[in-house]
Amino acid sequence: MRTIETVGVVGFGVMGAAIGLNAAMAGYKVVFKEMNDELVKAMYDKWVISALKKRVERGKMTREQMDTVAGLIQGTSQYEDLDVCDLVIEAAVENMDLKISIFGELSKACKKDAILVSNTSTFLIEKVMSKVEGQERTAGLHYFFPANVNKLVEVIRQKATSDETYNLLMEFASKNGKVAISVKDFPGFAINPVFIAAYSVLDSFYDGDKYNVATLDDISKETLGVRFGVMWVQNGSGLGTAYHAAVSMHEYLGETDIGFPVAPTSLKEKFEAGESWNLEDGDINTDKEARKYVAERLLGAIFAISTQLIEKDVVTEEDLEVGIRTSLAWPKGPFGLMDEMGADEVKRLVKLVVDGGYFKLPSKFAA
Ligand SMILES: NC(=O)c1ccc[n+]([C@@H]2O[C@H](COP(=O)([O-])OP(=O)(O)OC[C@H]3O[C@@H](n4cnc5c(N)ncnc54)[C@H](O)[C@@H]3O)[C@@H](O)[C@H]2O)c1
Repeated sequence: MRTIETVGVVGFGVMGAAIGLNAAMAGYKVVFKEMNDELVKAMYDKWVISALKKRVERGKMTREQMDTVAGLIQGTSQYEDLDVCDLVIEAAVENMDLKISIFGELSKACKKDAILVSNTSTFLIEKVMSKVEGQERTAGLHYFFPANVNKLVEVIRQKATSDETYNLLMEFASKNGKVAISVKDFPGFAINPVFIAAYSVLDSFYDGDKYNVATLDDISKETLGVRFGVMWVQNGSGLGTAYHAAVSMHEYLGETDIGFPVAPTSLKEKFEAGESWNLEDGDINTDKEARKYVAERLLGAIFAISTQLIEKDVVTEEDLEVGIRTSLAWPKGPFGLMDEMGADEVKRLVKLVVDGGYFKLPSKFAA
């Protein structure tokens, strides 16, 4: 039985650094690949040494443990140095042409049976891997920000992914202390379509007055029972990233039998102005009817896309439920919320967002 011992990480940025550090802390040897030696050094000091020192200062790790973890980590600017890796995780910037070319290089430089995965948020794995020789060893391994803290990982099987590759990735995720769910190669995979649908609908109500940011954030907190509202979470990922992801989801799904809301103009305007959502932009609107109007559509959107994901075999109900609770810290996932409401109410809310033009009607609710 093959095992993974050495892991390559391409892109030593926010995500790559956390993914590699997580693996080193789980005992794997890690080789980071950056664009040039200066960046390798700068990122090593920034993400590895200072992060480990902080852990030692906070008493979360001994100096000895720090030296052991640091000793497992190397950096390089050359693809050839990744020839020792059993698994390579790509976490470079989100650009399709760049990713395709990186995997072309990896296919040439790595062992012929090295597993090659991408941490892309928005691209289909099959496309990103088009230049790899031996498609059965490719897959997606999608971590969530912040990758050293957030426990969820989506293991994405594209059509050609072999059982061996999939099993080794599930085992790798578990040894890294992650909760892994199994997802089909689908736009945004399983978690992001739900979250992007939620904020696309919520943001579409923003008018700076009756529905200011404070009100919309508060409605999302009350409706979903979360500590951090949907507007707050968008700020965390950056409104530029949030907007581009919303555009991409609409492009992929808007005209299909699933449907997807148009990326909200309000989000575009905020991001183009270089702003974040101002969570303290005025009083919270307490008018019950006004709040209910938005809450029902927020839930309807979450229910519609979640049902579609199951109908299209992207993910199982159980995995989506666990995935949403783990990655987004919602106390209940979509199916927990639906169970609580009952079938008739769920159908009514889904019809609201279908009538509003946000989604197409899932077959389950057609009868
Ligand atoms: N930030 C998030 O919340 C998040 C969450 C999940 C997935 N992702 C995905 O993870 C990936 C990385 O995102 P990030 O936020 O860490 O970006 P980032 O900009 O912080 O890091 C990307 C790094 O890749 C490096 N890079 C670019 N070309 C390279 C090459 N040819 N070889 C080696 N390194 C190269 C850059 O120098 C940079 O340091 C993206 O695909 C993104 O969609 C991001």
